[in-house]
Amino acid sequence: METLIRKVNTDNPEIDVIKQAADIIKKGGLVGFPTETVYGLGADALNPDASRKIYAAKGRPSDNPLIVHVADIEGLEMVAKEIPDKAKKLIDRFWPGPLTLIFKKKEIVPNQTTGNLDTVAVRMPNNNIALRLIKMSCTGIAAPSGNISGRPSPTIAEHMIDDMDGKIDMIIDGGSCEVGLESTIVDMTGDVPQILRPGAITLEMIKKEIGEVTYDPAVFSAPSENIKPKAPGMKYRHYAPKADFTMFQGEAVAVSKEIIKMTDNLCNEGKKVGIITSNEHLNLYEGVMPGGNVKIVPIGFATRPETIASNLYRVLRDFDKTEVEYILGETFEDDRIGKAIMNRLIKAAGYKIVTVK
Ligand code: TXA
Ligand code: MG
Repeated sequence: METLIRKVNTDNPEIDVIKQAADIIKKGGLVGFPTETVYGLGADALNPDASRKIYAAKGRPSDNPLIVHVADIEGLEMVAKEIPDKAKKLIDRFWPGPLTLIFKKKEIVPNQTTGNLDTVAVRMPNNNIALRLIKMSCTGIAAPSGNISGRPSPTIAEHMIDDMDGKIDMIIDGGSCEVGLESTIVDMTGDVPQILRPGAITLEMIKKEIGEVTYDPAVFSAPSENIKPKAPGMKYRHYAPKADFTMFQGEAVAVSKEIIKMTDNLCNEGKKVGIITSNEHLNLYEGVMPGGNVKIVPIGFATRPETIASNLYRVLRDFDKTEVEYILGETFEDDRIGKAIMNRLIKAAGYKIVTVK
């Protein structure tokens, strides 16, 4: 299949391109499109065959449900059986935006879209291209992140092209995604709302609107017999670069010394090594063994964690284009958006964190 790739201006999207994409969605095809979080791989959420195509293109396990993207409250009412008052408050405050809410689903939503669950995840993205595409498609758009299953989510159109060229009908190139991490997911079906995946809308922000809210314990630890994530997608190895990735936590200078020591050892064995550091700590790595075998990558400013969020997946994907076999990385503060950053990094590292004393 030839994949049509069209560039679009986010502030003032070219309507003919959006219409072409909407026609593809209406006919049951697949379109890659930008949102403020990451690129999505979209299809008509109410068409079971179209949903099935998403799983095939991504190589995604069929028990992993899709998020339905809507452009207005009517879109939400079409798929959600009931909208609790607390959800209404969150919607008023945070939609359109990087917040996905889980509701009991209506019959109209096919099981193929929800991985056979009786609930449905819904979000209204804060991106003009996405909103217009949903409106012109006259349906809800089911859209997982546009990566091949297991790879880091795409945050620029090139990432989507790398993973999906030849497998889907069209990719809309709307530049880079502002946030860079997937939306916060909150289950609204129980008495106390629960965060299943941390994102840019933090627990503190949600608490301020509706009071009590908890985390699914699986957000912070590796899946096990006792700890099973409620968002089926969170149980899979995820966001992972090809290289062996280990993180180091502790005081900054001690961490840099440990990373440099490990790097020297690996280089002496002829291995190629990547180092992930905050921009602030870049100077701590000046002493690292010079030469082509080490790649030091500043990922953003620890004091402005939103810069780390927006660079994170690009940094991981860029390593895949190099020969780097081992990645050694710093950890970051895990408060506010740092929770989402560390949640993704820990998974990318396969839960390998070394504490440096
Ligand atoms: O920011 C985002 O949310 C992006 C953009 C494209 O909107 N989408 C995204 O979709 O991250 P995806 O499919 O990569 O992640 C959706 C997550 C999965 O972990 C899935 O298991 C969970 O949401 N999920 C979807 N429906 C659910 C449901 N009914 N109950 C529990 N978890 C659900
Ligand atoms: Mg995903």
